This record gives sequence, structure tokens and C-alpha cells, in this order.
Amino acid sequence: MIIVIIGSQWGDEGKGKVVDLLADRFDIVSRYQGGHNAGHSVYVGDQAFVLRLLPSGIIHEGSTCVLGNGMVIDPIAFFEEVDQMTDKGISITPERLKVSSRAHLIMPYHRALDHTSEERLGNEKIGTTLRGIGPTYEDKAGRRGIRVADALVPEVLKQRIERNLEEANRVIVLYGREPLRSDEIFEEISALAERLRPFVCETSHFFAQAKKENKKILLEGAQATLLDVDHGTYPFVTSSNPTAGGASVGAGIPPHHITGVLGIVRTYMTRVGEGPFPSEMLDAEEDTANLIRERGNEFGSVTKRPRRCGWFDAVATRYAAELNGFDSVALTKIDVLDALDEIKVCVGYKIDGERVDTFPAVSQDLRQIEPVYETLEGWKSDTVGITNIDDLPTKAREYVDFLSKSIGVEIGLISTGPERDQTIILKDSVMEGWFN
Ligand code: GDP
Ligand code: IMO
Ligand code: MG
Repeated sequence: MIIVIIGSQWGDEGKGKVVDLLADRFDIVSRYQGGHNAGHSVYVGDQAFVLRLLPSGIIHEGSTCVLGNGMVIDPIAFFEEVDQMTDKGISITPERLKVSSRAHLIMPYHRALDHTSEERLGNEKIGTTLRGIGPTYEDKAGRRGIRVADALVPEVLKQRIERNLEEANRVIVLYGREPLRSDEIFEEISALAERLRPFVCETSHFFAQAKKENKKILLEGAQATLLDVDHGTYPFVTSSNPTAGGASVGAGIPPHHITGVLGIVRTYMTRVGEGPFPSEMLDAEEDTANLIRERGNEFGSVTKRPRRCGWFDAVATRYAAELNGFDSVALTKIDVLDALDEIKVCVGYKIDGERVDTFPAVSQDLRQIEPVYETLEGWKSDTVGITNIDDLPTKAREYVDFLSKSIGVEIGLISTGPERDQTIILKDSVMEGWFN
């Protein structure tokens, strides 16, 4: 059984919590795209973890974790995270952590280029995490990237760094920054590559073997559908394919081996960084946004930036459901809405007075959208930690049903708090079938 977990909005829907919850039912947990732009928070008892590069399954001793070929890996950040996790008592060995030989490496000049690119864009900047993600994927598509396997051959690594840095330094100097030195980069990266060597693996072959042995595999998406470079709110997107199709390419698993797709949907929307956000709470709704931000702890787990908050957008989430083929949805953070008198849901868009029910491609159109709202009554009572659907207030159940109908997918799980056990699993759902 192979299940893919997908963020349905602009990220931070609670993928980490859900993956952690499900990980002990799986043998293998793998990331397939992105890098340490991700921040997946997991709470276990009084311990807090923020996973950036490592799959959230790493906390479970029984899980083997994989960093797939579609990822971009900063070796400095990788070992920082490995060391942090080791300090927290998590055992990380090559037996339980595999890194694809085909994943691309984020080099120090990619980080510098992420800065210069944002500087150049000025007011039109993307608001990236400045981790070097975009420039690394640019080099990958430009066929000059450095893969994990390349870094293990010193002559190849040295030559690639020298060649790429010549070009990168031209831009870096143009923006008034100090040029980087290829000998220093080579020394640092080659030492880290040696440390990485025992973890390196032909991961698609590893998955093929696992499939033969009937192992259960969970593919953990990072970022989310509306940040997908093909399907998201381009150009305000990341540079990878977090959507379900990306899982096959980015893990190296045949598409027809994938059993199902679970969408992670938050009961409201957030966005970090720039870009269109039709149902954003602005001006008159700033107080509601602040309340949600505080209750939901909506601050970036990587950059600590306050997340922009908005009402649930059924048009955007239905688009995500269609595109990824969600078989079931995990609905997170219902407890954050407990205090609201009224809850709005964006059920349609108007552009120039014309109703549109599909998600527009052009970000200019998205900025001009006038959202069409339906308003539901709030439940005004505490749902934190509820584990049984029958204990959910009637109005909260009505809200859940409304969202499920508006996106056309069943809700298989409702999350009522950040902790593992603050969860309702819906009986007889597709999802329950996968996880029994
Ligand atoms: P991810 O990137 O999708 O893994 O999400 P993040 O971890 O960046 O952000 C989600 C935040 O919400 C984290 O702080 C989680 O601990 C927290 N969280 C997840 N589910 C719930 C929930 O049901 N209720 C509340 N209150 N917090 C939640
Ligand atoms: P998780 O996995 C939220 C956003 C950045 C920026 C855009 C491009 O925790 O949900 P990048 O550095 O990727 O080139 O930035 O994408 N972004 C995220 N927003 N959650 C994330 O990951 C994100 N990863 C990238 O804020 O707008
Ligand atoms: Mg996050």
C-alpha cells in the first residue's frame, strides 16, 4: 500500500501532525520534493519537533525514512537537522535513513542567488524562504545541477562548483555582495558529502523491493497544491511539484503503484510570503485574523514570519481535490475556530462582476477576485482534544459537512489540536480502511 499526503492550500495545513499520527502504521515514510523550505511541526508529549528535510516518520523508531530524488538537499542543513534529532534521542542510522543519489544539492551560491533574485524583484518579490530552493531547481532544469552522486566524486564536484560559481559570482557581485570562493565551497561540501555517503541509496530500487515485500509506504508532500510550480498561483509558488503527480516522479515510484491520496485541508486558509489570496482577512477583519493567528499559532515554523490568514476557500480547495484526486481528507485545526460567532466560507469568485467557479490561471485575475461568501454560525464552544465525532457540537459538524460537500470529498479525519491523540477518525471512511 502506498499513500500520498498532500497539502491542499498554500502550506502549513498540518501535514506533519497527520504524517506523525499515521507513521506507525507504515514501514517507510518518504519526502519526494522541496527541501528545508518545509517546516512540519510534530508534538509528542512534552517534546516538540520541527522537521524540515527529514520525513516526519523519523520520530518513529520503526520507520525507515527516505529523501527522494525530487528533493533539493542542503547538506549543511541536513546534518544540522540530523544532529538536532540525535540530541533529542532519535536514533538516525543509514539503516533507517536513505538519501537518493539523484537528489540535487543546494550549494552556498544557491542561497546567495535566492537573496539576489528577491532583491531584483523588489515589490514583486516572491517572499521565498531564502533557502536556495528556486536557484537549485533552476540549475536542475538547466542541466548544470550537482546531484548527491556527483558530490561523491571529488573531481566532478570540484569541476562543477568551479564552472557554476563563475556564473553565479557574476550575479552575486552585480548585487554588491562578496564573491564566493570555489575552494572553500569545495572543501566544505566534499567533507559533508563523505559524511553523507553511508546514507546514499538507489531509492527507486529500494521502493521497488519494498513494494515486492508488501511494505506500506507513506509519501509525505511538503509545501502544497497552490504552491506547485505548474498548478499553483504562479509566479508566487515554490519551484517543485508538491501535487500528487509529483510524488511518482519525485520518489521514483510508478504512478499505478500508488493506492490513494489523502488531502490535508485546514478549516481556514493561510499563506506565507507574497501572492494572491482571494479570501484573505484584511482591514475590517484584521481582528479575526489576529485571533486565528494567535489561537492557531500561525507563525512560520521555519522563518517565524506571521502567516496571512483567511476564510476557507472552497473554490481553491475543490481545485486541489480535483487535481490531486483526493480519496479522503484530513481536516485540521477545527479547534482554532471555536471562539468565532460567524464563520465565512468562500464558495465562488467574481471577476469583473462575472461569477467564476474554477480557479483562474493568471495571478492578476486572482488579485482582482471578489470572493462570494456564505456565512455559517459558529459553535462557540470548546472542541480542543475531542476524539469522538458524537462529542463535536452540532454546528461544528454542520461546518465539517459543509466543507466536505463544497469540495466533493469525504472527511476521514478531523484534527482537534496539535497532539497526536487530539484526533477524530471517522468510521467507515476510505481513510479508516487504509489505516486499520
Ligand atoms: P505543515 O507544514 O503542514 O506540517 O504544518 P505546520 O507544522 O507548519 O503548521 C501547522 C501548525 O498547526 C503546527 O504548529 C501544528 O502543531 C499545528 N496543528 C496541527 N493540527 C492542529 C489542530 O488540529 N489544532 C491546532 N490548534 N493546531 C494544530
Ligand atoms: P510546508 O511544507 C508555507 C512559500 C514561501 C514562498 C514560496 C516560495 O511547511 O507547508 P521557496 O523558498 O520555496 O522558493 O518559497 O513558497 N513556502 C511555504 N509556505 N509552507 C511551506 O512548507 C512553504 N515552503 C515554501 O513562503 O511564498
Ligand atoms: Mg509548515
